[in-house]
Amino acid sequence: MDLGIAGKRALVLGASKGLGAASARALLGEGVEVHTISRSGTSPAPGMTALAADLSHGDGVKRVIDHVANVGRFDILVANSGGPRPGPVQGVGNDEWQANFVAMAVPFFRISDAVLPGMLVGNWGRIITIGSTSVVQPIPGIGISNTVRGAVAGWSKTLANEVASYGITVNMVLPGRFDTDRVRELDGLRAKAEGLSTDQVKAAVTRDIPVGRYGNANEFGAVVAFVASQQAAYLTGSMLRVDGGGIRSI
Ligand SMILES: NC(=O)c1ccc[n+]([C@@H]2O[C@H](COP(=O)([O-])OP(=O)(O)OC[C@H]3O[C@@H](n4cnc5c(N)ncnc54)[C@H](OP(=O)(O)O)[C@@H]3O)[C@@H](O)[C@H]2O)c1
Repeated sequence: MDLGIAGKRALVLGASKGLGAASARALLGEGVEVHTISRSGTSPAPGMTALAADLSHGDGVKRVIDHVANVGRFDILVANSGGPRPGPVQGVGNDEWQANFVAMAVPFFRISDAVLPGMLVGNWGRIITIGSTSVVQPIPGIGISNTVRGAVAGWSKTLANEVASYGITVNMVLPGRFDTDRVRELDGLRAKAEGLSTDQVKAAVTRDIPVGRYGNANEFGAVVAFVASQQAAYLTGSMLRVDGGGIRSI
């Protein structure tokens, strides 16, 4: 299926590897001009522009905003970041709350403000945020992530309503359990804490996934590309679960 976005320009944050990289590759495959952001500045595939910027600091965010100003109009923003350390939600100090809000939420708000004027003029845009199923069903043991992502969900839905009449859609895509470096690290930490092997942890997690396996990042990227498509013009203010059925509620 031709997604009708060839020639559009996309900015993909947190895209040197994992879900962001897979999203960037899927958009490139549709003929989109892709610009990626990561701390390392590593391009996930040939044919993309890769910029190094640390989104957890204001100067890194400014670097991205300056890039937008220099390049011109972006049609698609995929907002993605790294995740915080695991742990309970109790006992997190003031500085750590602030640092995680600044790293995981504020860059999305500010960079979308930078791309929105061009989208508003063109009456076309896609703002797609990579969240987590934890927005619907909080995941035990990742308290900071569960909390900050809730704020991002509130922002995404609010923005969707503000810009819907301008041909701009704003959605979140919620990953369940994908085989990425981040998940391998989390599985490793849990294995260490519980005296298990990582294979045992993976098997235990998989038992709660109806599809019976971890997702492949390319399966996630394909959904992001669809949300960016012409065909998805009436899809806005939504949260799409890409979780192999992992969320238990309707
Ligand atoms: N994988 C899953 O199953 C899953 C499930 C639920 C939620 N999530 C969430 O989805 C997001 C992506 O997950 P993932 O598994 O793809 O993670 P990942 O494999 O760790 O990749 C994270 C990407 O973000 C970049 N990044 C990290 N911190 C950054 C920063 N401060 N500034 C700029 N770029 C930064 C990394 O590149 P550099 O290291 O080069 O900066 C990398 O490209 C995370 O927030 C994660 O918590 C993932």
